[in-house]
Amino acid sequence: MQTPLCRKLGCDLPIFAFSHCRDVIVEVTKAGGFGVLGASTFSPDQLEAELRWIDEHVQGRPYGVDVLIPAAYDKAAEKSPEDLQQLIPQGHRDFMENILSEAGVAPLAADDLANLRAELVNGRGSMTPDGARRLLRVALAHAQVKLVVSALGSPPPDVVADLKARGVMVGAMCGKGEHASRHKAAGVELIVAQGTEAGGHTGDVATMVLVPQVVEAVGPEVFVLAAGGIAKGSQIVASLALGAQGVWCGTLWLATRESELDPFEKSVLFAARTEDAVRRKARTGKHVRMLKSRLSEAWEQEGAPPYLPTPLQGILYNEAHARVVRAKQKDLYSFPAGQVVGMLNEETSVRQVMVQLQEEYLETMGRLEQIAAEAENE
Ligand SMILES: Cc1cc2nc3c(=O)[nH]c(=O)nc-3n(C[C@H](O)[C@H](O)[C@H](O)COP(=O)(O)O)c2cc1C
Repeated sequence: MQTPLCRKLGCDLPIFAFSHCRDVIVEVTKAGGFGVLGASTFSPDQLEAELRWIDEHVQGRPYGVDVLIPAAYDKAAEKSPEDLQQLIPQGHRDFMENILSEAGVAPLAADDLANLRAELVNGRGSMTPDGARRLLRVALAHAQVKLVVSALGSPPPDVVADLKARGVMVGAMCGKGEHASRHKAAGVELIVAQGTEAGGHTGDVATMVLVPQVVEAVGPEVFVLAAGGIAKGSQIVASLALGAQGVWCGTLWLATRESELDPFEKSVLFAARTEDAVRRKARTGKHVRMLKSRLSEAWEQEGAPPYLPTPLQGILYNEAHARVVRAKQKDLYSFPAGQVVGMLNEETSVRQVMVQLQEEYLETMGRLEQIAAEAENE
């Protein structure tokens, strides 16, 4: 299964795991894959603590970091991260509060609310170009970080130059064939071609269509990974057949015991069907594929306030989300998840997933070889 990209980065398997959870990163990396920590919701200090822990546990293996560098964002938020809460209009707060109080979700005690708000501002303040640069300064002090991926657009020239000078591979997420050439021109060395099936920020082109478009657009000098809707070894074979150098999965890890979700959240995840993973703007102000709930749908109704720019909608939404999780209110629970959520029915472990993906890969390769042998014998 090893591809040239694995040899370049120093991992055994072309299975890349995106997760915000350090335990997932460590277990995938130890199992021969390549973990990439989603850093965008951390403050620089939190990221430093996470990376130090990962360094101590990955037994010298390489791993990656993903930061969000949005092209469109609230410029006031960039100037004054400490005042982020003040930039959220009262009308938007009232709208959210009405949904929660009508559903009987209790308000937080004043201390809890103050702590949560401070935490959200610290984390979400990293979702601007300067915020991302602050995270990168932390990441680059960790020698085992061998890949940095930019979500939401090509990384700026100073970031590309800095990463390359330190021998760190530059990656970028891509949801449209036409964006691939732009990434290549910006100096990106690895493109994650992420189809609409994916959990998280996503476009509307399917993985099956997008991957060959991206591979063709960038040619052999740029590595391409297939992402979106991948949860089986047969889909790894399919991705390699489409010209990708491996796969990049996100939703799959949410069902593992190592993931950041608590038992209540996992119970909602396991009950969800593929059709429940919808694209909505309620979580960040940009399209995110996430579990449908009364909270996500309320923002789609006529009369709902307009979505706020990054990172403000995320701060508002995540405060409500934290209250929903504490209240264990299933019908209001929305978390980013891709269409493969319908295939996740029980808790697994990262190790089990890694073994299963490899077994299914071999089984599929065997099936293809049999088809080829039969055709030859005819
Ligand atoms: C819970 C969750 C959060 C995500 N957050 C980010 C993010 O911060 N940055 C990013 O580049 N991708 C993010 N993604 C997208 C993943 O990187 C990945 O492309 C996607 O999960 C792949 O599709 P899949 O969900 O079908 O496996 C997220 C995905 C999930 C499920």
